[in-house]
Amino acid sequence: MRGIALVSGAMRGAWLGTLLALAASAPLTAMGQDGDARRGRKLATTHCARCHVVGDFNPYGGVGSTPSFQRLVRFPDYLERFQTFFERPPHPPFVRVPDVERRSNLPANATEFEITPDNIDDIIAFVESLKEED
Ligand code: HEC
Repeated sequence: MRGIALVSGAMRGAWLGTLLALAASAPLTAMGQDGDARRGRKLATTHCARCHVVGDFNPYGGVGSTPSFQRLVRFPDYLERFQTFFERPPHPPFVRVPDVERRSNLPANATEFEITPDNIDDIIAFVESLKEED
């Protein structure tokens, strides 16, 4: 604090501006993710919302037995769960990841979709924004 007290008023303003800018950008870079939350929301509402409740997009939607994203993101190990969701039941029969061997030979029991590791980073950036709400 003493160091900051020594700088001129104008400098202090610049410093505060920088600190505020850093604070504002922190949530998106949390956990070293470089995903884009807006793209993640689009992906989640397109591919995940027919089963999961996804934030305020479909509060009364989803499938009853399926955990909402705002609940999942509060699990201590949510990052690992989202990073590997495509190999966790029930997803393997209907989620494809390019260059990743199919984890299931069962016929798809829901409409198939393809997702890339970049897409998953975007979805994680988006679900992290749900954690900061309320
Ligand atoms: C056809 C329905 C369906 C779709 C589509 C779907 N999920 Fe799921 N998902 C489920 C169900 C059901 C569970 C709960 C599984 C359980 O409790 O064992 C689940 C669980 C999860 C979990 C927690 C897994 C675990 O082991 O804890 C994550 C993370 C997840 N889904 C992410 C996604 C993402 C991301 C998408 C879209 C890109 C998606 N899901 C699309 C049905 C779906």
